[in-house]
Amino acid sequence: MTQSSAAIAPSLLTADFARLGEEAQAMEAAGADRIHWDVMDGSFVPNLTIGPDVVAAARKHTALPFEVHLMVSDPNVLLSRWVDAGCERIIVHAESPGCTHLHRVLGAIAELGARAGLALNPGTPLSAAEPVLDLLDLLLVMTVNPGFGGQAYIKTMEAKTAAAAAMIAGSGRTVELEVDGGIAPATVAGAVVAGARVLVVGSALYRHTDGIPAAISELHGLINAALGAPVAPALSTN
Ligand code: DX5
Ligand code: ZN
Repeated sequence: MTQSSAAIAPSLLTADFARLGEEAQAMEAAGADRIHWDVMDGSFVPNLTIGPDVVAAARKHTALPFEVHLMVSDPNVLLSRWVDAGCERIIVHAESPGCTHLHRVLGAIAELGARAGLALNPGTPLSAAEPVLDLLDLLLVMTVNPGFGGQAYIKTMEAKTAAAAAMIAGSGRTVELEVDGGIAPATVAGAVVAGARVLVVGSALYRHTDGIPAAISELHGLINAALGAPVAPALSTN
């Protein structure tokens, strides 16, 4: 199983929603680093997915860390329920109407003992993150418009990712830089060269002809190659 300096965070948006616990367990067995839960309320995005009770039910099936990506109009409503459900990282959208007081929302996440993440849609400037960078443990650059899996990667987001990496480096803070949407063997190199070190991957894992473990290994191999990292020697066959 190939590893790299980046983390693979499978999105279960493309998974079998009748078996999310087993799906999360399978991701752990396949070498994933964390589970990325895509929460949608049918208002902030034109799609509706899961609530905290579903995440809490899946919690018993895997030891992987959980992060929750709140594509909802008002993340304040259920904020503590995600922590109770076993999520270590809570990612809110700068564009959510409930994040008008974004500084307060991020502070509330920290007060709950969770790590605070901020997601920026493709049309939102990086400058939206700058005033609250000191409250962030994670910055998510969306590489698709949120709402659905299987969309095309927006390559112009690599410039924004690189600018985010520079902003984080200049801050001297430890902030995870994550990208989400359209990450696949054909796009992962551009994202990591731009500076992303947490890759949300959904449909590309389920599409892979050799299965999810092979998909994760292939992505790590491509990340190593893109970063010029030594590729783990193939196991000797003799
Ligand atoms: C989109 C979600 C993403 C997406 C990733 O709104 O935030 O997590 O489902 O899925 P793929 O990898 O299929 O683009
Ligand atoms: Zn997501």
